Amino acid sequence: MQNILVTGGAGYIGSHTVVELHNAGYNPIIVDNLSNSRKSVLTGLKNITSKDFTFYKVDCNDKETFRQVFKDHQISGVIHFAAYKAVGESVAKPLEYYENNVGSLMTLIRLMKEEGVEKLIFSSSCTVYGQPDQLPVTEQSPKKTAESPYGNTKQVCEEIIEDTSVSDKSFRAIALRYFNPVGAHPSSEIGELPLGVPNNLVPFITQTATGWREQLTVFGDNYDTKDGSCVRDYIHVVDLAKAHVKSLEYLTQHSDLSFDIFNIGTGHGNTVLEIVNTFEEVSGTKLNYKIGDRRSGDIEKIYADVTKSTKVLGWKTEKSLRDSLQDSWNWQLTLKKEV
Ligand code: NAD
Ligand code: UD1
Repeated sequence: MQNILVTGGAGYIGSHTVVELHNAGYNPIIVDNLSNSRKSVLTGLKNITSKDFTFYKVDCNDKETFRQVFKDHQISGVIHFAAYKAVGESVAKPLEYYENNVGSLMTLIRLMKEEGVEKLIFSSSCTVYGQPDQLPVTEQSPKKTAESPYGNTKQVCEEIIEDTSVSDKSFRAIALRYFNPVGAHPSSEIGELPLGVPNNLVPFITQTATGWREQLTVFGDNYDTKDGSCVRDYIHVVDLAKAHVKSLEYLTQHSDLSFDIFNIGTGHGNTVLEIVNTFEEVSGTKLNYKIGDRRSGDIEKIYADVTKSTKVLGWKTEKSLRDSLQDSWNWQLTLKKEV
């Protein structure tokens, strides 16, 4: 069984990917410093898979401790999720973001080269496109100047990976540009654990519906969209997780591939108000929300062209927006019970 190192594997997307790697016959090895996750995620993973995954509480910036993971296991590939991801916080703490996101990638790549590990899948973001001139966005759409230090770390990391793959034929990588991940595992054993007040729409909606937050503010209804609220491409986290398995297989089967980039979204855009309405339908609750001012830095509309990932990776989404919101809601109800 191939060992796949999953950095940030206790986090939201990482934990769902651990399940899909396991389902596909891989042995995921989790490295996480638990800066934005909890060790209890391992219990959820065990309840889903009946497996105790190997877990290291290690910071990816701590090179010599991290190296021991490579010494303990023969690693066939790495999926690198570990990063900080709060856009607003990155504006206040740019050095922490560059250090953690860019620094951890550099440490990881150095270790991979020193320890002879060839394949990397990297978590990038549609944030690299900024406000696109044309929709949907393809992988060829131009990158825009990053709106935040967080967004810039994703651009810089993609460039570091590409430059390294050009310089060293034995280092090969795929960057996945995620659109907006939502939902949770259908078992409700794992899901998103936003620590503190969530910035993202769906956790804010589910927390408002349970009464943890008083009211959702819809950030603007005067955009040039069908109902005036912003458009995003919301993808179920399990579909997103499966894209990592497909990418790993593709990298393994194409030993001549040095670097490639794929959009991972549904190919459809939904407005904030559509999300609110669909949530009300699937949850059977009435959401307390108001229309507020635009959020500074927000993109009006963006959604993915997924032709390349569909054709090349042989991957496509299987879950609907209703599935996503139903699973987010079920997960939220589980959290409510624990509080
Ligand atoms: P998350 O915060 O839930 O998971 C990240 C995990 O990495 C956490 O468990 C955290 O404890 C860990 N971590 C952070 N820094 C670390 C370090 N130095 N060493 C070891 N572990 C560390 O976030 P997520 O939503 O699962 O995102 C995963 C990746 O996907 C990130 O790189 C993020 O930037 C990227 N991404 C996320 C989204 C999104 O909307 N969630 C969108 C686009 C891209
Ligand atoms: C945000 C980040 C993006 C990052 C992504 C990953 C910004 C500008 N962008 O994307 O870089 O990759 O998260 O998580 O922060 N909304 C409301 N009310 C709320 C929360 C959100 O109306 O309380 C709206 C937003 O205006 C937006 C949509 O919901 O139109 C989605 O917002 P969010 O979940 O924060 O994601 P993005 O803005 O797409």
